[in-house]
Amino acid sequence: MEKQRTATISFNDGVEPIEFPVISGSIGPDVVDIRTLLGKAGKFTYDPGFLSTASCRSAITYIDGDAGVLLYRGYPIEQLAQHCDFLEVCYLLLTGELPNKEQKDKFVTTVTRHTMVHDQLNNFFRGFRRDAHPMAVMVGTVGALSAFYHDSLDLNNPAHRDISAFRLIAKMPTITAMAYKYTMGQPFVYPLNSLSYSANFMRMMFAVPAEEYRVNEVLVRALDRIFILHADHEQNASTSTVRLAGSSGANPFACMAAGIACLWGPAHGGANEAALNMLEQIGDVSKIGDFITKVKDKNSGVKLMGFGHRVYKNYDPRAKLMRETCYEVLNELGLQNDRLFKLAMALEKIALEDDYFVSRKLYPNVDFYSGIVQRALGIPVSMFTCIFALARTVGWIAQWNEMIADPEQKIGRPRQLYTGATKRDVVPIEKR
Ligand code: SDX
Repeated sequence: MEKQRTATISFNDGVEPIEFPVISGSIGPDVVDIRTLLGKAGKFTYDPGFLSTASCRSAITYIDGDAGVLLYRGYPIEQLAQHCDFLEVCYLLLTGELPNKEQKDKFVTTVTRHTMVHDQLNNFFRGFRRDAHPMAVMVGTVGALSAFYHDSLDLNNPAHRDISAFRLIAKMPTITAMAYKYTMGQPFVYPLNSLSYSANFMRMMFAVPAEEYRVNEVLVRALDRIFILHADHEQNASTSTVRLAGSSGANPFACMAAGIACLWGPAHGGANEAALNMLEQIGDVSKIGDFITKVKDKNSGVKLMGFGHRVYKNYDPRAKLMRETCYEVLNELGLQNDRLFKLAMALEKIALEDDYFVSRKLYPNVDFYSGIVQRALGIPVSMFTCIFALARTVGWIAQWNEMIADPEQKIGRPRQLYTGATKRDVVPIEKR
C-alpha cells in the first residue's frame, strides 16, 4: 500500500505544525489538500488570481503550460483539429469518449433538431439598439433562454441537463448569427438542417434572401477548426465563473450567461478583438518598434494583446494551429499578402527575439491569430468574442456537468484577508 504523502505547515506563532495530504492526479502537478487549515490553524490560504490554487478535480482538459501541451480527454489538440469535426469534439468533451459512426450520427441529428429558437425570441432582439455590442445581446439573450424552457431547469435531473446541453450547443450558432444580423439590419436567417453545424452557422451569418448562398467547404472547415480550438481550456476565468454560478444551483442558461459575461473581458475572450484592433492601430511594420517600446513602458498600460498566458509559458499550441488556418483561409481567398497577417507575423518575430517578452515567457496565445482568420472569413471584429463564446459553450457545459456530479462539490464561497476598519461606533450625523 503506497504511503500517504503529506505536506507539513509549521508556524512560528505557537500553532502546532499541521500535516496535509498530498494528492496526485493522472498527470500534472500534485495538490496539497488544505481544506482542514481553517479548522486546525484558524488561518486561510491567500492566493489572489488563484495562481497556485486547484479549484476542483477534473477529467476534461489538461494543459502543460511549460511544454505547450493541450489535451481534451487525453487527445492532443493537434490530432483533434486534424482528424475530427467540432460536433465529434463536443461529444468527446461531454461524454469522455470519441463517438463511433452510429453515436456521432445520433448526436448530430439531435443537435440539428434543436437549432431553431422560440419565435418570440425574435422580439427580444428588437429591444436592443442596432449598434449594441453583440456580446451585450448574447449575454441578455442566452440568459433569457431560461424564460422559455421551464421544462428543463432542474439541474439535479440528468435528463434536464442533457436537453439543456443540446439546446445550448444547437442554439448558440443561431443566436450568434441573429445578433450579427440584427446589428446589420438584415433579416434573420433560419437554420437549414441539411447543412453541417459550421456550414449552417456560416449560412445564417452571411446568407441574404435576395440570393442563393454557396457554402465554401474550405472556409467552413477553417471555422469548424476555430470552434475546436476554443472548445475548452481547463479552469480559465469564464469556466470558473460558470462553475461558481452553477455551484449555487443556478439554471444552465443563467450559468452560461455568466460565462459569456466573463469571457467578454479584454484580458480573456475579448483579447482577439483587442489584438486585431492593436494590429490596425500599429498599422505598418515600420511602426512595430515604437509600439514595442510603449508596451515595455509599464506606465503606458499598453499590452501586446494576443500575447502571454496565465498557464502557457511556451507557445500556445492553439496559436500554431490558428496560424496554419490563417494560411489556408488567406490562400483560399487569394489574400496571401493580407496586410494584417504580414504585420502579425512580423510583430510575432520581433517580440520573440526581444528579451522583454522572452524573459517573461510571453508567447502568442490563441487570440493572436484568431482575429485575422475571422476577419478574412468576413466576421466583423465585434463578433469575434461571440464566436469564442459559441465554441466555448460545450466546454462550459461539460465542466458544469462535472461539477454537479462531483460528490465533493459545495457552493463556492472563498474568504478574504480583511484589511478594513476594525469595529467602531456610529457617531450621530450632527457630531460628524
Ligand atoms: C485567453 O486562462 C485561459 O485559459 C484563457 C484562454 C482560454 O482559452 O480560456 O486561454 C483564453 O484568455 C487567452 C489570453 C488572452 N489575453 C490576452 O492576450 C491579453 C494580453 N495578455 C495579458 O493580459 C496576460 O498575459 C494574461 C492576462 C493573459 C495573463 O496574465 P498573468 O498570468 O496574470 O501574467 P502577468 O500579468 O502576471 O504577466 C507577467 C509579466 C508582467 O510583467 P512584470 O510585472 O513581470 O514586469 O508579463 C507582463 C506583465 O506586465 N505581461 C505582458 C503581457 N502579458 C503579461 N506584457 C505585455 N504584453 C502582454 N500581453
